[in-house]
Amino acid sequence: MSQPNSPSQQPAGRDSFVTSLGAVVVTLGSAVGLGNIWKFPALAGENGGAAFVLLYLLCVAGVGLPVLIAELLLGRHSRANAVTTFRKLSPGKPWFLIGVSGVLAAVIIMTFYTDVAGWVYSYIFKSLTGQLSVEHTEAIFEQTISSPVSSLLWQWLALGTTAAVVIMGVSKGIERVIKRLMPALLLLLIICDIRAISLPGAKAGLEFLFQPDLSKLSGAAILTALGLAFFKLSLGMGTMLTYGSYMSDSQSIPATATRVVLADTLVSLMAGMAIFPAVFAFGYEPTAGTGLLFMTIPAVFASMPFGGLFTFLFFVLTAIAATGAMISLMEVPVAFIHETLGWSRRKAVALTVVVMALLGLPATLSTSVWSSYTVFGMTFFDLFDFFSSNILLPLGGIGIALYVGWVLRRDKFVQSGSNQGGLNNQRLVATCHSLLRFVTPVAVTIILLNGLGLFTL
Ligand code: PFF
Repeated sequence: MSQPNSPSQQPAGRDSFVTSLGAVVVTLGSAVGLGNIWKFPALAGENGGAAFVLLYLLCVAGVGLPVLIAELLLGRHSRANAVTTFRKLSPGKPWFLIGVSGVLAAVIIMTFYTDVAGWVYSYIFKSLTGQLSVEHTEAIFEQTISSPVSSLLWQWLALGTTAAVVIMGVSKGIERVIKRLMPALLLLLIICDIRAISLPGAKAGLEFLFQPDLSKLSGAAILTALGLAFFKLSLGMGTMLTYGSYMSDSQSIPATATRVVLADTLVSLMAGMAIFPAVFAFGYEPTAGTGLLFMTIPAVFASMPFGGLFTFLFFVLTAIAATGAMISLMEVPVAFIHETLGWSRRKAVALTVVVMALLGLPATLSTSVWSSYTVFGMTFFDLFDFFSSNILLPLGGIGIALYVGWVLRRDKFVQSGSNQGGLNNQRLVATCHSLLRFVTPVAVTIILLNGLGLFTL
């Protein structure tokens, strides 16, 4: 078995990120997404605010960061897609199934992620054309998701936009576009934060987000926080592994991963700071879940001065975030098809888009004409979300942790993570290996069993 002890050269003709900063920004572009603006505030709101945020931070530092480092290192060492990586490192062994589950998870997540991204795109249009009135946000959301033709068209627009970037390749498409979009996202977020924090009565929202009341913690919240950390950092499905394969040998992977984790967490907190102060200032409830983004936010923003403008800006930044994440999700199957079947990127993207659009049909139509079709008591949207987030993603996380912790030797892992001893970070990388060996598999197995309803805390 080959070990990640020596850096492997990028095969001739294989694209890669041009700069180290570009690599950090693109990786961040995958992590930052609907997870920060839709899931994080929704879950924090439903689980008691700051206490949940604290738990989430612990999960990100203790479980998320080591798995992120492991995925990036595996990818950089193998210089290949999620499936080929394991085939190269452990030929003839079933470890490649981790990669297969990753490709499958990426395709399935895209079926509902593009649906939600389509709603976000449509809200940009609605806010521009003045269709988001304060009194009717519930009816508007209902109408958005229950109209089959328009929700499909918006979903295809989201898929098409993503494909247009992915088709251009890693350096000329993905890196170039995300490097422009991320600063725009940050700027818009800062503007929305300043507006929300300066509202009279905003303090209660900040306290909700930052002043933990530990009595609000429950066992279930720990599991939710751990699951969110995986989804947020795009872990367990080979996305970060694929991006690691485009990183240079001189890049410090632990430093890149740490920056991405810190910046992603900051974006989540900043999204919370744009949402909760405004929610509290206008006397809304923070517990609306998905409705928080699509019903509460438009209502709250519309009722404040220059509300229309801020609603528009908020949905533009959400669309940017969603698009960066969708690009990374599409790149997983595209890299796999391109490299294993030898198809051109263009053909690989075309096939991926068709598969995603077809599988996306039942997910999208399940909030309208197919709402009565259920499998295991779930609509297709919920089934795809459940199957990918609660089964494939934790399985991938356990697989990667077990592979790195028990198959790859510790000294080889440390050598790879320290760029053959060139970086002074051996302790950190060794700790990471121990966490992957002992803590991660147990913690994630608990999430998996919980997701399947076989175990409750
Ligand atoms: N991290 C993205 C978010 O927070 O929205 C979602 C995501 C992207 C999950 C890419 C998984 C993935 F492979």
